[in-house]
Amino acid sequence: MKILLVCLGNICRSPMAEGVFRQLAEQRGLDWQIDSAGTADYHVGEAPDRRAQRASAEVGIAIENLRGRQVEKSDFTRFDWILALDRANLRALQSLAPAGHSARLGLLLDPFLEGREPEEVADPYWGEMEDFRACRAQIEQAAEKFFARTGRLQKNPS
Ligand code: 4NP
Repeated sequence: MKILLVCLGNICRSPMAEGVFRQLAEQRGLDWQIDSAGTADYHVGEAPDRRAQRASAEVGIAIENLRGRQVEKSDFTRFDWILALDRANLRALQSLAPAGHSARLGLLLDPFLEGREPEEVADPYWGEMEDFRACRAQIEQAAEKFFARTGRLQKNPS
């Protein structure tokens, strides 16, 4: 399975989500490909925000080597799932998606777009360290659910 996590800047939420997904896949012995990107180009080439690095390091996840990149057209055929961290970024993805693309688009907190609350991982960029920890915890819960649900759907996880 190939999964792309997407936020605005690719320096706060989606790198933390990438780290969480990588850790869960590794713990489950799944050879999944996980990546993250931003819909904006503000932070291309930059390492994750130090507060995101710290909130991840506190639970044993190293994200300091990740670098910001922007979503590309080819992502819509390279990945099985593209999960946005909030609705604004899902809308941006929907308008970028080429016709006939193969990737399934959804929200990290509502991958199948069933309208369950809460749907958005709030942007912690203008917040405090505690907001980054809360964000990481919210991502962890959602990721656990995603693995449980897609694990049941897949006969032969790869
Ligand atoms: P992210 O957070 O989308 O979770 O990476 C942000 C990072 C940077 C900005 C906004 C949100 N910015 O405006 O530069």
